[in-house]
Amino acid sequence: MTNGVEREQWGSKLGFILAAAGSAVGLGNIWRFPYITGQMGGAAFVILYLILVFVIGYAVMMAEISIGRKAELNAVGSFRKVKGGPWVLVGWMGVAAGFIILSFYAVIGGWTFKYIFASFTGLMQAGAAGEAGDYFGGFITNTTQVVALQALFMVTVVWVVYKGIGEGIEKYCKILMPALFILLLVLIVRSVTLEGAEAGLAFYMQPDFSKLTGEVFLAALGQAFFSLSLGMGCMITYGSYLSKDTSIPGAAAQVCVLDTLVAILAGFVIFPAVFAFGLEPASGPGLTFVTLPSVFSQMPGGSFWSGLFFLLLFVAALTSAISLLEVVSAYFIDELKWSRHKAAVTMGAIIFVLGIPSAYSLTGNLNIAGKGFLDAADFVASNVLLPLGGLFIALFVGWIWTEEARKEITNQGEKPFGLIVPWVWICRIVAPLAIGYIFFSGLKW
Ligand code: PHE
Repeated sequence: MTNGVEREQWGSKLGFILAAAGSAVGLGNIWRFPYITGQMGGAAFVILYLILVFVIGYAVMMAEISIGRKAELNAVGSFRKVKGGPWVLVGWMGVAAGFIILSFYAVIGGWTFKYIFASFTGLMQAGAAGEAGDYFGGFITNTTQVVALQALFMVTVVWVVYKGIGEGIEKYCKILMPALFILLLVLIVRSVTLEGAEAGLAFYMQPDFSKLTGEVFLAALGQAFFSLSLGMGCMITYGSYLSKDTSIPGAAAQVCVLDTLVAILAGFVIFPAVFAFGLEPASGPGLTFVTLPSVFSQMPGGSFWSGLFFLLLFVAALTSAISLLEVVSAYFIDELKWSRHKAAVTMGAIIFVLGIPSAYSLTGNLNIAGKGFLDAADFVASNVLLPLGGLFIALFVGWIWTEEARKEITNQGEKPFGLIVPWVWICRIVAPLAIGYIFFSGLKW
């Protein structure tokens, strides 16, 4: 209860899972996962990623949800309420990460807009002629258009957050996420049957462990946190709307599995095609946007499928972006008593402005010590702030708030969780050591 009124809650248990999965599944799975995998050398990275998701990611996700559900507040308020002191800084760091991630996320979200329409106006021809890369290059260097689309994306996000939890978020996830999933399956069939696809499958599935460097470890950790929406209080905020009788371990497991499945499937679409079309797997953030048009151009009704796919990708990006803005807004709403309207609109506008340098950096003209501005923002958020946030959250429940967390996770003992003891030890020792070690050995600009 806040302000004497009942705090909003998800309409149902399914509502939470859909919304949390909606937050998790997004550009991180379909845009970021394939291109990072491509840069980090393929299968060995993927295996590492899977281990990190299911050992550390799952544990931190339960920790976040339990803190949020107990406190029924935003990321900062939750830490203040359950413990206070310096722990509040962890919440702050999360809000900061939310600002940064959404600023560049909206730029890529804008790309999906462009590609929905471009599917019917030239994208397929470019793909068929092997010129999807030129098409993409031409598009991202037209900064005015990229910024206009970024603005459009932000307006959509603000509009949904402004309308509130139940109606705003749940409604959109229920039909469109399963559709995205099915479309990915169809695309896999097309991609793996292309001539020359085997090399892509080998890249994606035959690990070469000599490729595992400190940098690869950190990239896998950063990708795990980014993709699961962890380390910044997003799952604290969403957990705060979760009903008291839902099983946290069950809900968290479903979210982790769904999110990972979508990423892995996206890889099965992208890599066979990358190799079949002779593209470069390590080419960076354009990978998905260059590869897919070529795949679609090889399908009957390609324009239609392409339009549909980018529409669904747009929706997936939107549900993730909503959760990012929700973290930021919930802070201003709960702590500073702003209206939802004011919080969403003001923060949306600030984040939009913050994202303009990222949009502009795609021309190659805005670098910070050798990294493009967008890359740099992504690096700071995903490889520094999120892992650090996860580290502190794990330490917090592992050492400080352990008994409370146990109670919350087992619903006051009513729903025993068989892995509660390993979970405590992962939070206490395994996750902090692993994150700390990876962080310090892999941190390289
Ligand atoms: N998980 C989202 C994605 O994969 C991005 C995100 C990160 C959302 C952090 C919320 C918090 O696209």
